[in-house]
Amino acid sequence: MSDAKTVKLVDESSKTQSEMPLISGTLGPACVDIGTLYKDTGYFTYDPGYGSTASTKSAITYIDGDKGVLLYRGYPIEQLAEKSNFLETSYLLLNGELPNKTQFASFEHDITHHTMMHENLKFFLRGFNHDAHPMAMLAGSIASLSAFYHDKLDVDNPEDRKLAAIRLIAKMPTIAAAVHRRSVGWPVRYPRNNLEYVTRFLHMMFEVPSEPLELNPVAAKALDLLFILHADHEQNASTSTVRLVGSTGANPYASIAAGITALWGPAHGGANEAVLKQLEEIGSPDNVETAVKRAKDKNDSFRLMGFGHRVYKNFDPRAKIIREMCHKVLNELGVKDPLLDVALKLEEAALKDEYFVERKLYPNVDFYSGLIYKALGIPTEMFTVMFAIARTSGWIAHWIEQHETPGSRIGRPRQIYTGADVRDYVGADKR
Ligand code: SDX
Repeated sequence: MSDAKTVKLVDESSKTQSEMPLISGTLGPACVDIGTLYKDTGYFTYDPGYGSTASTKSAITYIDGDKGVLLYRGYPIEQLAEKSNFLETSYLLLNGELPNKTQFASFEHDITHHTMMHENLKFFLRGFNHDAHPMAMLAGSIASLSAFYHDKLDVDNPEDRKLAAIRLIAKMPTIAAAVHRRSVGWPVRYPRNNLEYVTRFLHMMFEVPSEPLELNPVAAKALDLLFILHADHEQNASTSTVRLVGSTGANPYASIAAGITALWGPAHGGANEAVLKQLEEIGSPDNVETAVKRAKDKNDSFRLMGFGHRVYKNFDPRAKIIREMCHKVLNELGVKDPLLDVALKLEEAALKDEYFVERKLYPNVDFYSGLIYKALGIPTEMFTVMFAIARTSGWIAHWIEQHETPGSRIGRPRQIYTGADVRDYVGADKR
C-alpha cells in the first residue's frame, strides 16, 4: 500500500475535488477519515451493512479476516485458549494487560464477592411463564439491574464504570443460571464463593437440593475455554449496539441489555441454537447433500447456520479450536452424539462445494459450539445465553473504552431518503 497521507475525491459534476486524511492503526487497513465529507462536499457515504466502514478506534481486539487472525489486546486467541482462563482474559480485555498474581487475586476476589443477585430479581423472574425463551428473561433481567443498582450509575465516574463491569461479569452467570432454573421449575441456587467462576456457574445451573452434584472438571475446563473464545470480537453487531446505546449516555446495564437483544438474532449469536436445531432437522449424514443444495437455492431462505462470516473469509480461528475440542470433550465425557457426524459431513460437503468456496463461506464460531454445550447438558435454548455470559466481558470493555475516549459523540447515522416528495395535506373528504 502507498504511504500517501490523504485521498482525493474528484466530483466530476461540479469539477471540484476534496482531500481527506488517511488514518492508520497498529495493524489492519488504513481508513479514509470522512468526518468533514458532508460539510466539504454536501455528500453522505452509503454503506448499509457497514461492510467498508470503521465506526470507531479501539485497542481491544484485532481481526484479520483474510488470514484468520484474532488478537485480544495483541495476544493470539490460540495462545489465550491454551494458556489462559476466562477470568484472566476478562481482566486483559478490561485493563489492556495480563494481570500479575496480585492483580488477578484482587480481581477474582471482587468478582466472587459480587456474584449474588438482588433477592427481588427472583420475583421478577417468577413473572415469566416457565416456557419464556431464556434470552427474553436474560435481557429483561439485565436491563432491570439499573433499577436495583441505581446508586453508582455516573457513566463519567471511572470508579462507577469499574464497579458496573465487576457487577455485570459477576452476576451474569448467577442470573443466567436463575433463568434456566425458572425454565425447568427448579429453585434458584445461590453462588458458592468457594468455587471458581465456571464451576460456580455449573453448580448454580445443575445442583438440586435432593442430592450433591458431581461436577466433571472436563466440563468446567471446556466451558471456560468456550467463554474465552466468545469473550470479544471487535465491532460485531451486538458490540456495536452496546457502543451506540452507550454513546447516548445510557447506563451500563441498559447498554449491555441492548447488546443481549442484538446477540439473540439467528444471524449473530442466535446461530448456535439455530445450528443445533438445523443438525437435528437434517438428522443424518445421508441428508447432508439435500441441505447443501437448499442452502445454495436462492429461492429457498434456508441457510447453513454456523457458516459464513462478514469478516472471516478464511477459517474462523475459534471454529478450528472448538472443532478439535468437540472430539476431545465428547470422548472425555463419554458422549456419543450422532449429530457430530452430521456436522462433520456437512462441513466436508460445503467446503468442497463451489458455491461455498467461491463465497469463502467457512464454519464460524457457532458451528460446533452447540455440540459441546449439549454434551455438557445445557439446553439448546440456553446456548445463546452462554454466548452472552462470555461476551459480557467484551461488551463492557468496549463500553468503558468508549467512555474513556475524549471527544466521543452520540452515534447518529444519516440515510438516503426514498419516500414521498413534499406534498400538502388532503382532507379525508377529498382522499
Ligand atoms: C457471529 O460479526 C461478528 O464478529 C459475529 C461473531 C462474533 O463473535 O460476534 O463472529 C458471531 O455472529 C457468527 C455468525 C453466525 N451467523 C450464522 O452462522 C448465520 C449464517 N450465516 C449468514 O447468515 C451470514 O454468513 C452472516 C450473517 C454471518 C454474514 O452475512 P454477510 O456478511 O452479510 O454475508 P451475505 O449475507 O452478504 O452473504 C454473501 C453471500 C450471499 O450469496 P450471494 O448474494 O453472493 O449469492 O454468501 C451467501 C449469501 O446468500 N451466504 C450463505 C451463507 N452465508 C452467506 N449461503 C448459505 N448459507 C450461509 N450460511
